[in-house]
This record gives sequence, structure tokens and C-alpha cells, in this order.
Amino acid sequence: MKKAVVIGATGTIGKAVNQQLTEKGYDVIATSRKSNPTLDIENKESIDKFFADKKDVDAVICVAGDASFGAFSNLTDEQINVGINSKLMGQINICRKALKALKPNGGIILTGGIFAHKPWPETTNIAMVNAALEGFVKALALELTEGRRILVVHPPFVKETAQAMGMDSSNCPPAIEVARAYVRGLDGKETGKAVYVDE
Ligand SMILES: NC(=O)c1ccc[n+]([C@@H]2O[C@H](COP(=O)([O-])OP(=O)(O)OC[C@H]3O[C@@H](n4cnc5c(N)ncnc54)[C@H](OP(=O)(O)O)[C@@H]3O)[C@@H](O)[C@H]2O)c1
Repeated sequence: MKKAVVIGATGTIGKAVNQQLTEKGYDVIATSRKSNPTLDIENKESIDKFFADKKDVDAVICVAGDASFGAFSNLTDEQINVGINSKLMGQINICRKALKALKPNGGIILTGGIFAHKPWPETTNIAMVNAALEGFVKALALELTEGRRILVVHPPFVKETAQAMGMDSSNCPPAIEVARAYVRGLDGKETGKAVYVDE
């Protein structure tokens, strides 16, 4: 049975990824800060502890990480650091440990977001981090061995999130459709790439 770690597995997109992988027959280790086993991507000790007993993993998918909305001129140091410390460094630190647990031909998929390429006003912190993740996976793919692969998925606003934010959700895909892009990424051969769901 193939083994997958899903980080952020209780979230809007993570839940759908967990469901898709489980339906495909993966043994899923679902984690987040409040789950058992617990994992906080912003805390290196927590990452070390989580991965200490993990080996022969076929897939690690991270669908967790925060960044700040807000007009650039008003962003505080703390708000800018949210994106850097959580969504960017959190996922990079996951990769450092996940690679040691990853089987040959295994895959890591990180999560960015559509603002990497189609920003809205007040998304500088998010756009910066999402674009950085794309550069990171492109470069890291060149160093991976034995068929190991890495991708970043850039989800659009999903229907559930748009509805929760009171936005027009008519053009937004449901989380399950976005989750299918993660699974296709695992099944495919591509590496070092950004995966868009709305293209
Ligand atoms: N939803 C969208 O429309 C959308 C669009 C583009 C990009 N994205 C990106 O996709 C990712 C997931 O979004 P979402 O809407 O599914 O989020 P969500 O519903 O808020 O869920 C976040 C998930 O991540 C976990 N989590 C949060 N911080 C964590 C941390 N420091 N360490 C480990 N787990 C953590 C949460 O569980 P705990 O609270 O238990 O930790 C939860 O399982 C985010 O990076 C977001 O920027 C989302």
C-alpha cells in the first residue's frame, strides 16, 4: 500500500486531498497542528519530531501555510514575516525532512496559490511567497535523485472559501477539483513545475 503524508489535512483543500488519496488506496497519515499526530510547519522541532519515525513514504503533500493580505504600505514587519515564516519557510523546512523519508520515485507537492501569477491589489505578501515557492521547486528538482519529484500547486480561490468570504463563487472550482490536481501531480512524471488548476 502506498503511504502519503498530508499536512493541513483538516483544511478546506487538505480534507479533499486526503479524501482523494484515501479513495485511491493510499495509507494517509493526516496531520496539522491540532491533529494527532501533530505537526506545526512553523516549528522546526515539531517537524523533526514528526518525521523522526517516517520512512519509505511515497508522497508528502503540504496544504498548510499562512501569508498576510493587506496594502503594502500598511503591512507591518510581523505581517510580512507571516508569509515568510509560515507559508515559505514552513514548507521549505518540511522539504528538508520529507526528502529523507521519501522513497525513490516519490513526490512532494507544496501549495502556493494563484496570486503568484495573477495578483490582486493587497496581495504582495502572498504573491511574493507563492512565486518564491515556484522558484524553489524549479531549482530543487534539479538536485533530486532516483526519480524523486517536487511540484507546487497554485490553487485558485475554491468555491468553499469564496462562499465563506462572501465572494462570488460562481467561477470557483470546488476543493475536490483542486484536490484532483494534486493527485494528478503525484501520478504524473512532471517535476520542478507549477501546477495551475484553472488553466
Ligand atoms: N482555499 C483557497 O481558496 C486557497 C486558494 C489559494 C491558495 N490556498 C492555499 O492553500 C493552503 C490551504 O488553504 P485552505 O483554505 O485549505 O486552508 P484552511 O481551510 O484554513 O486549512 C488550513 C489547514 O492547515 C492546517 N495548518 C494551518 N497552519 C498550520 C501549521 N503552521 N502547521 C501545520 N498545519 C497547519 C490547519 O489545521 P490546524 O489548525 O490544526 O493546524 C488546516 O488543516 C494555504 O496555504 C492557502 O494559502 C488556498
